[in-house]
Amino acid sequence: MSIVPPGIPAAAFWARRKSFDSATHVEADRRLAKTLSWPHLVALGIGAIIGTGIYTLTGVGADRAGPAVILAFAIAGGVCACAALAYAELATMIPASGSAYTYAYTVLGEGLAWIVGWSLVLEYSVTCSAVAVGWSAYVVGVLKTYHIDFPAWLLTGPHEGGLVNLPAVLISLAVMGMLIKGVKESATINIALVAIKLVALAAFVILTLPAVKAGNYHPFMPYGFPSHTVDGKVRGVMAAAALVFFAFFGFDAVSTSAEEVKNPKRDLVIGILGSMAICTAFYMLVAACAVGAQPFQAFAHDSEPLAFVLRALNHPLAATLVAGAAVIALPSVIMVMMYGQTRVFFVMARDGLLPRGLSRIAPGRGAPVKLTLFVGLFVAVIAGFFRLDEIAELSNAGTLLAFVCVCVCVLVLRVRRPDLERVFRCPIAWVIAPLAILGCLYLLISLPAATLIRFVIWNVIGMGVYLSYGRHKSLLASPISPGTN
Ligand code: ALA
Repeated sequence: MSIVPPGIPAAAFWARRKSFDSATHVEADRRLAKTLSWPHLVALGIGAIIGTGIYTLTGVGADRAGPAVILAFAIAGGVCACAALAYAELATMIPASGSAYTYAYTVLGEGLAWIVGWSLVLEYSVTCSAVAVGWSAYVVGVLKTYHIDFPAWLLTGPHEGGLVNLPAVLISLAVMGMLIKGVKESATINIALVAIKLVALAAFVILTLPAVKAGNYHPFMPYGFPSHTVDGKVRGVMAAAALVFFAFFGFDAVSTSAEEVKNPKRDLVIGILGSMAICTAFYMLVAACAVGAQPFQAFAHDSEPLAFVLRALNHPLAATLVAGAAVIALPSVIMVMMYGQTRVFFVMARDGLLPRGLSRIAPGRGAPVKLTLFVGLFVAVIAGFFRLDEIAELSNAGTLLAFVCVCVCVLVLRVRRPDLERVFRCPIAWVIAPLAILGCLYLLISLPAATLIRFVIWNVIGMGVYLSYGRHKSLLASPISPGTN
């Protein structure tokens, strides 16, 4: 079966698109096993969403916006909710692995699909690294309470005078090992970790709520609304929103698993929207309680802000338990995002844009082992040597671009293929999708200039890889018979 849609000349590489059939039909020996249903997906979503964003970046966000960090969470959450609705429409129309990359390939063409796939490396891999660094701070804090200290040079990368962030490297490699054991076991462990994370956040809210003082909310917006630089520091509600956006994404990792879902049309909608709704509710509560119970300046620079607030309120045991929950549960975020990355690379390799050999399934495993090893090592290196806020922001930039493309795809398909069956229709799509696009672009330009420059450099490198490799090796450039490497 040729997978080149009729009417697309082979030379127009930038615009060549996957047909809808080819996006959802794959060769038998390159097919992932169907093992997941909606409870797995809700857990997968929450597992990816709640992590370093709420546990660690709440402090940095408060530093940028003051008590209005609550508003920053609301803005980022609103944009993500709109994007989630667009994702749900596409995920059910194109229930294939690869998420935004596959949607862009089917709707916008290979060139933009590559850019999205390359950006998803930031969203998935670099996020894993950022969460590993956040986890490292919590684990070091917990060990300190037991008077276990490690040499400082093994706890930070060169930017802070150390050699390597060893705990961050180790957790990255440990999660990689778990994923290699197989999706089903990993998803089951994930459900337990998600429960721990939610209980810890609920305990935080219950213990801090009685200590909330109206005075701590004034002035609500000490640094104003737009992102701007004051004495070399980015400030403002939008600067905080552009950072805490990190706390929300992850729901789209659910859509990367579409091919492994038993009943994708129903389960994906429940998985994406359900996990988003639960997490948004928790974030609003936690942020409001943190800045209400303590002046934001007190915990803004702490690497374990939630534990700090509890200690300040004289709940040392609860502080240790919440920190312990972060230590136990943050790896679930790494697990889901690393899983998402391997699936995106897997599909890119299956499409020929990356070496085809990477899309071989190891016999008896149902999961791409070589790819998982490669991703795990990449994540470990970034986690070992780079700074949390910088990598979190870079990861946000990649994610925002992917979200914009997904929303554009929804609108293009509404015009081009109104006939296609839509199990889930994004409500008032011509309002929601443009709102999401504008919101994402506003968040993108609210990121620090240095992050935007790094993002452009990343994409220039990506373009070089595509023009020198993927453009020629793409299955759409030279369709091959099934089973060929
Ligand atoms: N949303 C995820 C987190 O906050 C990436 O860690």
